[in-house]
Amino acid sequence: MHERLADKEPPRVRLANTPTRGHWLRYGEKLGTKIWIKRDDHTGSELMGNKVRKLEYLMAEALQQQATHVITCGGEQSNHARATAFAATQLGLKSSLILRTDNPDQPPAATGNILLDRLCGADIRWISRPAWKDRNRLLAEEAERIKTAGGRPYIIPEGGSNALGSWGYLRAMRELVEDLAGIAAPDHPVTVVYACGSGGTGAGLVLGWKLLGLQALGIRVAGVNVCDDKPYFVDAIGKICGDFEERWQLDARVTPSDIDIVDGHVGLGYAKSRPEELETIRDVCRTDGVVLDPVYTGKAFHGLVQELKKDPKRFGSAVAFLHTGGMFGLFAPNAITV
Ligand SMILES: Cc1ncc(COP(=O)(O)O)c(C=O)c1O
Repeated sequence: MHERLADKEPPRVRLANTPTRGHWLRYGEKLGTKIWIKRDDHTGSELMGNKVRKLEYLMAEALQQQATHVITCGGEQSNHARATAFAATQLGLKSSLILRTDNPDQPPAATGNILLDRLCGADIRWISRPAWKDRNRLLAEEAERIKTAGGRPYIIPEGGSNALGSWGYLRAMRELVEDLAGIAAPDHPVTVVYACGSGGTGAGLVLGWKLLGLQALGIRVAGVNVCDDKPYFVDAIGKICGDFEERWQLDARVTPSDIDIVDGHVGLGYAKSRPEELETIRDVCRTDGVVLDPVYTGKAFHGLVQELKKDPKRFGSAVAFLHTGGMFGLFAPNAITV
């Protein structure tokens, strides 16, 4: 890591199989654009995806604080909640998950990520969609309950998306510099495109991009939001970057114009798929043997394809698509038909 950053880097516990590899997609040739893919879906099996990179720092802090339990929250098929539950179990801690569902009195069947949550012994509390707005209070209440029972809780926010977690993608950006050597150049810019769900991955990438001066190497970063909208994520990512700069006294000077969010591809809403998004997932799988998920990577990739059809140079000479995982979501009921 860059010297100035290495001095400030907080403790990390090794959980992910990194550096991850990358390769070109034949699918890009179909579109007449070069698309390279970074396989962060290979960061692990139980721990697969982007969340484990954030968890390396979050779990290190939990261990430092001698936590006995980690608590987090998410949607019912949350990849983050599953990765947190496994990271906790692998490190000998217990996990408590607050998961959002339509009817908490009739929790969903144990399929996909839920099956894995249960398999590794996570304690699950189901909450309704209206209760989700109170998630931070519910996390605090759960922490109190654990304390009363004699445990030491550590709370991880939604998506692991805070300043500490963002170190995960700051570190990944360092890998990307090596990955893209020989591909990106000032006169051949390459954009790292990622699915944006709670902003933590984006914050880490943008911080890395600024702090490592990657504009000068012809590297750019753009997120395709899979929920909410551009103003929401410019604000959310900006806040995480601001907290990061304050906590580690690193002057990244991230401004709203540094945060490129490609809006307009949320479609039917978070975790709701349109037939054309599922068609793109099938098409990529049949062309390259790469599995995207319907909620994050498939939706973002479909958005990327639409943008490239409109303007093949929107992202420069080539795209570096970050595959952030999510495959277990395919095993939720009715996620995709083949
Ligand atoms: C597979 C996958 N990709 C992308 C994301 C989005 O990452 P972030 O929440 O850091 O924006 C998530 C989680 O939300 C995810 O599970």
